[in-house]
Amino acid sequence: MSGITGPTEPSESTMDEQSDVMNLLESEPYYTTEKGAAYQGDSRKLLDELPKGEVDLIVTSPPFALRREKAYGNESPEEYNEWFMEFAEKAYRVLADDGSLVIDIGGGWTKGVPTRSTYHFELLTELVGEDGPFHLAQEMYWYNPAKLPTPAQWVTIERIRLKDAVNHVWWLSKTERPDADNKRVLKEYSDAQKKLMEDGYEDKLRPSEHNISDKFDKPKEDGAIRPNFWDIVESPDEIPDFGDILHDAGVSDDLIQAAGEADKLDELARLTLPEDKIPDNVLELANTASNTHYLNACKEVDLDPHPARFPRDLPQFFIQFLTQPDDLVVDIFAGSNMTGWVSEQMNRNWLAFEYQEKYLRTSKLRFMPMEELKRDENQQSFDDVIELTD
Ligand SMILES: C[S@@+](CC[C@H](N)C(=O)[O-])C[C@H]1O[C@@H](n2cnc3c(N)ncnc32)[C@H](O)[C@@H]1O
Repeated sequence: MSGITGPTEPSESTMDEQSDVMNLLESEPYYTTEKGAAYQGDSRKLLDELPKGEVDLIVTSPPFALRREKAYGNESPEEYNEWFMEFAEKAYRVLADDGSLVIDIGGGWTKGVPTRSTYHFELLTELVGEDGPFHLAQEMYWYNPAKLPTPAQWVTIERIRLKDAVNHVWWLSKTERPDADNKRVLKEYSDAQKKLMEDGYEDKLRPSEHNISDKFDKPKEDGAIRPNFWDIVESPDEIPDFGDILHDAGVSDDLIQAAGEADKLDELARLTLPEDKIPDNVLELANTASNTHYLNACKEVDLDPHPARFPRDLPQFFIQFLTQPDDLVVDIFAGSNMTGWVSEQMNRNWLAFEYQEKYLRTSKLRFMPMEELKRDENQQSFDDVIELTD
């Protein structure tokens, strides 16, 4: 990921400055900032208020189809796709021709048996299949090594399934060539790779003979439960050689072989490798941050934080990859409004739609410095605090 880290705490309040984007809708915003506006309501209705073709990126995480109800409500797998397609069609209308819709969606399990539901694959074919409005620009995977080992019955009790460690993230587009540039999100090479490129290569294994780790043959009895995603090529003990680096960067094995035979691998690397590494479609992000401004602020005002927040890197990656400064980013299931907060940091305009007021109230805290939230003896509740800042 590129160096796009912003401050985690607002240094001054951007609350209630008037953003132009609030003029796009008739409804009254719940709060506004310099770059955006958050609305309480059903996003189907709010999307209808937006003019056609105005939005550059929608990045969102809908409630998933779950058997067990979450605090913020979920559709069952049977009704899910019909429910979701209503939002998708409205989202399509408001997107610019080179705009994108990015959906983070988790899979589910069939009730009572250790098999997976296929609802999210069916939804994808509805979204991008023959009759679907969108193109599938690329499917991505959010690999979260910190995910809990559930469902407990199959994973920790009967031990017959692996730990489900990925969410699907679908990057959909309105046309075949949405605005996107992978140069905006280049990754730095690892220190080992940099050293190798500086010091020259050691001709070890050819890419086709990757040294596959033997760790899967010898599971440790008391080890961690394996996730259902792993990178079989890279193991921390293995220093990759030039052949591996070139192969991973998409250079053909024949060319690598020929360059190796002519003792010219390092020259080929210099000619073909970009300065930084092009990211792949697996985004490794743990969702474990515990000392964030949002969490501290919720604690300060005694309100529960949203239970299913994005890690900051997820919206940040797509905003960087798919938009430019002053573009408009919308989250139609905004929750704690991580998307709006990151957009503000990255100088993008934003809109957040969320139908539960309790989540909007805490999302507002993201934009307020801690000093504004500290209570004195006259302020007993968050309502007092929020009144002072409204
Ligand atoms: C998985 S959470 C999103 C969390 C968010 N990505 C974050 O970083 O906090 C889904 C949210 O969608 C909201 N929601 C569900 N149906 C909605 C609707 N029809 N309109 C607006 N929001 C809705 C829920 O209240 C919930 O907060």
